[in-house]
Amino acid sequence: MAKTKTVFFCQSCGTESAKWVGKCPSCGEWNTYVEEVVSKSTASAAAFTSEKSKPINIKETGSGGTKERTSTGIRELDRVLGGGIVDGSLVLVGGEPGIGKSTIMLQMAIKLNKKILYVSGEESAEQIKMRADRIGTTSDQCFLYAETSLSEVIRQADDMGPDIIIIDSIQTLHSDRIEAAIGSISQVKECTGQLMKFAKQKGVPVFLIGHVNKDGAIAGPKVLEHMVDTVLQFEGDRHLTYRILRTVKNRFGSTSELGMFEMNVNGLREVTNPSEVLISPREPGLSGISLGVTVEGNRPLILETQALVSPTSYGNPQRSTTGYDYKRMTMLLAVMEKRLGIRLSTQDVFLNIAGGLKVQDTALDMAICSAIFSSFEDVPMGDDVCFAAEIGLGGEIRPVSRIENRINEAQKLGFKEIYISKHNLKAKDIGQFKIKVRSFSKLSEAFGQL
Ligand code: TYD
Ligand code: MG
Repeated sequence: MAKTKTVFFCQSCGTESAKWVGKCPSCGEWNTYVEEVVSKSTASAAAFTSEKSKPINIKETGSGGTKERTSTGIRELDRVLGGGIVDGSLVLVGGEPGIGKSTIMLQMAIKLNKKILYVSGEESAEQIKMRADRIGTTSDQCFLYAETSLSEVIRQADDMGPDIIIIDSIQTLHSDRIEAAIGSISQVKECTGQLMKFAKQKGVPVFLIGHVNKDGAIAGPKVLEHMVDTVLQFEGDRHLTYRILRTVKNRFGSTSELGMFEMNVNGLREVTNPSEVLISPREPGLSGISLGVTVEGNRPLILETQALVSPTSYGNPQRSTTGYDYKRMTMLLAVMEKRLGIRLSTQDVFLNIAGGLKVQDTALDMAICSAIFSSFEDVPMGDDVCFAAEIGLGGEIRPVSRIENRINEAQKLGFKEIYISKHNLKAKDIGQFKIKVRSFSKLSEAFGQL
């Protein structure tokens, strides 16, 4: 007879507590504890283990490094997975609603010539078919299954023997082993646990789609992130077309990988040369526009920073940023005011990173300063100049990481000049580039040149 007990779970971070608490001691959120029934079923642990496992000598253990990887047929997806799908791996794909999680999984499912079980608890098979029609290609090996009961899903998977299982989404599945409500932390945890067992025992890769909560974390995040092998996060503004797929955790590869996609009328299209699409359509001779080289994951990206500086008409000057840290911009404004002696305190300043991306890389500092400077003076920056340097509080130009990668990217895209810090590269190293590398140690010096 199953023993029932109830536990309180924080719905924001998944922390467990025997008693109700007002403020979660782990994530600090208020009023997030909900009582959930968990029955410790005795069958639970032994369900899929037919034989008892034993410790194995490390020398006799098969090497994980030689494991075959299956390509997903989508290069950008392979990249974030660390080279392809590993057998028996559990991959969590997180992101806000409407960002394209179902689309990318379906696209992978119909592109791969493998037997795929696509379980959807959110859409009917007809709805998924309609989506597949939009994407275009079809596969005769992709099976759609609208079901929310985990035991049914596992039974079907056992019968069918798919090569890959996709669960859309983990929050819609429920296990009858426990009584908690669908989507609750304990259900999500239980279902993920059972799917993990299935994946490991049968060697079948399982993709889980997970929704994120208001703070951008995957619901029940800690629990899920610990359990799965790989966590991919879909980012981007859903009103804009570009999407970034980032590796947050990967037991089989690097976490500094990033894939880029564009949402079209017929599905997600890979963007293999992000810099080109991000900076291509530009009006020549506009002031307030400057290009900076940032590094996202392992990839250098050239971004367009746009600034508008105009005299304040009310008492307080307005400042606003899109895609960039507000505080960092106000700091840069103060540095420019003090070190370049330009009166920005009487000006409204608006800053935008084009393309809908959010960046934190400080190597964009100099590009931002020059966009502001260019708008303030109403003089356009040259079209073939770009920047890669951090600005310090003293107005000094500081070195940034991976400078060779950045310079190479600028060179590849046909820029004529790049401005960097004097402390970043030795003179003899600069000689190896075809692009003109100009190095400075002070902002005032560099802007005197511009
Ligand atoms: P979807 O994959 O359903 O998002 P999620 O599963 O993350 O909630 O993506 C839905 C959005 O994508 C929706 O707003 C419509 C858009 N879309 C396109 O623009 N083109 C397409 O070909 C498809 C399939 C979707
Ligand atoms: Mg969806």
